[in-house]
Amino acid sequence: MTKQRVLSGVQPTGNLHLGNYLGAIRNWVEIQQEYDNFFCVVDLHAITVPHDAKALADNTLTMAALYLACGIDLECSNIFVQSHVKAHSELTWLLNCITPLNWLERMIQFKEKALKQGENVSVGLLDYPVLMAADILLYDADKVPVGEDQKQHLELTRDIAIRINDKFGKKKEPVLKIPDPLIRKEGARVMSLTDGTKKMSKSDPSELGRINLLDPPDAIKKKIKKCKTDPVKGLAFDDSERPECNNLLTLYQLLSGKTKEEVATECQDMGWGKFKPLLTDTAIAALEPIQNKYQEIMDNRDYLDSVLRVGAAKADDVANATLARVKNALGFLPNL
Ligand code: TYM
Repeated sequence: MTKQRVLSGVQPTGNLHLGNYLGAIRNWVEIQQEYDNFFCVVDLHAITVPHDAKALADNTLTMAALYLACGIDLECSNIFVQSHVKAHSELTWLLNCITPLNWLERMIQFKEKALKQGENVSVGLLDYPVLMAADILLYDADKVPVGEDQKQHLELTRDIAIRINDKFGKKKEPVLKIPDPLIRKEGARVMSLTDGTKKMSKSDPSELGRINLLDPPDAIKKKIKKCKTDPVKGLAFDDSERPECNNLLTLYQLLSGKTKEEVATECQDMGWGKFKPLLTDTAIAALEPIQNKYQEIMDNRDYLDSVLRVGAAKADDVANATLARVKNALGFLPNL
């Protein structure tokens, strides 16, 4: 039996934080052996907000190296750079012409990001979810492992695919595969260290809200020391009045590999003075092997280049076949 296909990606904007890792990449690694996987570094998405042209290429390489350092296995997974596969841009145009404008204006992330940017909102930011739909649909992905904040974009992807199939497909021959999101409960929404009601985010101007995968031990220690807590005695999960407590316990659970029950019992009588050093040591120990592996990969640039070259070639084959299928369904004259 052929394996089902997985596709996912992360934007190469700055550093990868624990939200990206626990919400997305850790899950890619855990499920990858069961699937045929395509993981892209979505650099075209990274320019939908004002970006630093001098940093984009380096950030893209860093992200690809981090995928490998986190444990992506090339035996079952392909790693590639989105802009290296031209079909992403081309399918986006085709999907643009089928997607109603008001579907995009409803997107929560667009509204939030547009609000932050004031007047300087690009057409690309509005179109971000259509490019994401193209990423997914090009690979006939069955499953898309992401954090909870991407749920609405996945619903839009499904709606776009259904619309294309309804308008241009035949009953027994859909043009596009309808993908399912894969959102794990734990870690799906990692919150900021400075405010347990706000998502941990790359765009938070304060570094104190997030732990980056490449943070040195001193920085991790400082951030956890300064993180927001509450004055209640004893630590417990799932208390809606204690968002910071829930978030920090979940981080400890996921980084230590313990079960929720084990953590609940271990921490029930603890105060923050005891818990914070425990979380600090656990985070440092969990990130150390990733950081070491990352350094090894970055020291071998030829290897990284070859991973991305092979990944792009494989992605190109799959993506071009889908693109040809869509163009044919839409009625284009084939290449002569
Ligand atoms: P990006 O780079 O913003 O986020 C990458 C992944 O990290 C998850 N994530 C989180 N998960 C838990 N808690 C958080 N605080 C947190 N912050 C981010 C996101 O849900 C995501 O899974 N639009 C995508 C990139 C993309 C993509 C795709 C994903 C482009 N094309 C195709 C899947 C399939 C994004 O959010 O990137």
